[in-house]
Amino acid sequence: LFSKIITTERLVLRPYEEGDISFWNKWNLDPEVQRFMPELKNEAMSDAAQRLFLQECKNNPEDIYWTIVWGKGNEPVGTITLFEINKHHGIAELGIVIGEKDYWGKGIAKEAIQAVLVFAVSDLGLRRIVAEYEEGNIALEKALLSCGFQQECVCKESRIKNGKPINTIRFIFLQDRKN
Ligand SMILES: CC(C)(COP(=O)(O)OP(=O)(O)OC[C@H]1O[C@@H](n2cnc3c(N)ncnc32)[C@H](O)[C@@H]1OP(=O)(O)O)[C@@H](O)C(=O)NCCC(=O)NCCS
Repeated sequence: LFSKIITTERLVLRPYEEGDISFWNKWNLDPEVQRFMPELKNEAMSDAAQRLFLQECKNNPEDIYWTIVWGKGNEPVGTITLFEINKHHGIAELGIVIGEKDYWGKGIAKEAIQAVLVFAVSDLGLRRIVAEYEEGNIALEKALLSCGFQQECVCKESRIKNGKPINTIRFIFLQDRKN
């Protein structure tokens, strides 16, 4: 699904646009950006396939996709997604990529995650958000902690990386938990 535009102090989170497609292959094929991502996404896609993907995102009722735009330059720097949204249970998962490496370490992940949490709770009525990351992704761990997430568990050997099983860490944000 594409949902409303969210504006923060320095960012605009807006639905995907066709113009974003040129950024996706760059980010998907950059080994540094992909270091902690599942390997399956590490493939080049044609423009036609990317356009189809954009339409699938738009039509998927369980996921909401935003492009993260650095407000001042109007430039896409990454994406943030709420996926597997289930309003009955009040749950969803969160994923984020800052694909433009020049923008790492500026607090963009923290600002974007915080804004999407507010939207998830206020607009969607969700109460539990899961974020799962590969062990060693310190930047994401810190960003999640500062947004009020806590570790729920280690998912042992839940992903294959470079031919070997690795652990992922599951963090949760609980709306009614005073952090
Ligand atoms: C992980 C990622 C989302 C972090 O985004 P970011 O905008 O650079 O993060 P922030 O600037 O908000 O930084 C969050 C915290 O991590 C710290 N940090 C940033 N980069 C770091 C690094 N390489 N090593 C250690 N700490 C780091 C920041 O100092 C900040 O800490 P603080 O809370 O103590 O101030 C981004 O690096 C990224 O997209 N990487 C590639 C894709 C990826 O791994 N996505 C997640 C897959 S589940």
